[in-house]
Amino acid sequence: MSHSIDRIEPATSEVEAAAAVIRSHRSRYLESAKRTESDPRYVEPRRAIETAVEDAERAAGVETPAARDALWSAVFDMKGASAFDWTLAAFHSLSTGDYAMAEARAARALARATNDLGVQAILHQARRGGAADPGFGGRFCDAPFRTIETAPGGDVYFCCPAWLPKPIGNLDTESAGDIWNSDAAKDIRASIHDGSYRYCSRSHCPKLTADTLPETADLSNAKMRAISRTEATELDAMPERLVLSHDKSCNLSCPSCRSELVIARKAEQKRLNALADRVLFPLMGQARRLRMTGSGDPFGSAHFQYVMRRLKDLDNPDLKVDLQTNGVLLTPALWDRLGLEGRVEQMLVSSDAATPETYAILRRGATFEQLMRALTFIAELRRENRIRNFRLDFVVQALNFREMPAFVELAQSLRCDGVKFQMIRNWGTFTPAAFDAANVARRDHAENDAFRAVLDHPALKAPNVEIWGLQR
Ligand SMILES: C[S@@+](CC[C@H](N)C(=O)[O-])C[C@H]1O[C@@H](n2cnc3c(N)ncnc32)[C@H](O)[C@@H]1O
Ligand code: SF4
Repeated sequence: MSHSIDRIEPATSEVEAAAAVIRSHRSRYLESAKRTESDPRYVEPRRAIETAVEDAERAAGVETPAARDALWSAVFDMKGASAFDWTLAAFHSLSTGDYAMAEARAARALARATNDLGVQAILHQARRGGAADPGFGGRFCDAPFRTIETAPGGDVYFCCPAWLPKPIGNLDTESAGDIWNSDAAKDIRASIHDGSYRYCSRSHCPKLTADTLPETADLSNAKMRAISRTEATELDAMPERLVLSHDKSCNLSCPSCRSELVIARKAEQKRLNALADRVLFPLMGQARRLRMTGSGDPFGSAHFQYVMRRLKDLDNPDLKVDLQTNGVLLTPALWDRLGLEGRVEQMLVSSDAATPETYAILRRGATFEQLMRALTFIAELRRENRIRNFRLDFVVQALNFREMPAFVELAQSLRCDGVKFQMIRNWGTFTPAAFDAANVARRDHAENDAFRAVLDHPALKAPNVEIWGLQR
């Protein structure tokens, strides 16, 4: 198949040939996305994308720059195109130096494949005008040396799966020790020591987006300093910090998080309790910090309630608990029943609104009145020094961004220690168009100027107000 220079519309058969090749690469790419370099199934994402682009162009028979441009425009606009099709089209734009197009295409792919490190790398390189990733040499993240986080399905990560989307093992099939020092765990630790942070998300990890990673030279923790100096990848000491996010059960169904109510059935609750007895309680016996939960709700999950109730049986009084919750089920009676007095360090309460109307939409299943009753109790716990930290959380989206200053005032009136705003991500509950509409941080969003104006409000400049996930 040959092309004349002035021909710019690819034939349907050429686009179909490219699409078939892309589909065959896509399954390998997705398989590789959960792996790290010591796994034979791992392919470095940029290499995988580049190879797929070359193979697709060869299959379509395009040779000239104009024909390649036209092919990738057609693939991008193809009916039923996947995020991977869009990613390859973005890579093509990046490789031709069309950074604005690369950014627009990659942003579209990312809205659908939110944890894809390959598309994130394209997006950020386009935003840097084509410059290579500088990495984070000389800086140190302690998460892979201190923390594990469980996820639904039993996979275990070093931190939030959106921030570092590589599992290091699975609770159902491996022992805690094998998971903690697995090949994937060692690969990830090596990527911290070499400064590449190649498995970490430049789009979602707040330490990378806000550039707050400490300098290695300034590390105050002697253990972390030693680990950094020796570039240790295999660790004797088990994790100090556990984040339990393996049960999605919750009393609410916030539209940003899920489309319907999720409550584990009795048999599943029993299975999770047995798993906690076998793997998690021995870890809790040695840890210093336990957080529940990023997946469902500690009070809305019978399993997490079981974990809380059983903490009193541990011979580890030093283990402190942080609860991340919608809060609405918490009452003084439940607090007592779960034996939480003296155990809880932080209460992080997601509220997403400063008005009853917005709250009812964004926190489906609860009322603002219920929330305020729970917040009043938690504020009392904090005032009486029965907990050390009380934070209010808010997922920023089109429907609520104008309430951000009033939300800070609400937190101040409750004498909270801090407020966290998190930019909304697509957890698969939005179509790409619905997500575009919700995501006011998008520069071409109709309300982006109004959003930027809200960010300049003095209330948001208070030192205890954090904004996560915003690319400034
Ligand atoms: C899934 S919840 C689990 C804990 C608890 N149920 C709660 O709501 O805080 C963990 C955090 O994720 C936030 N969240 C929910 N949907 C989100 C989305 N689409 N993007 C970013 N954060 C989201 C919640 O508001 C909460 O702060
Ligand atoms: S309360 Fe938390 S876990 Fe429950 S649906 Fe809302 S965001 Fe998800």
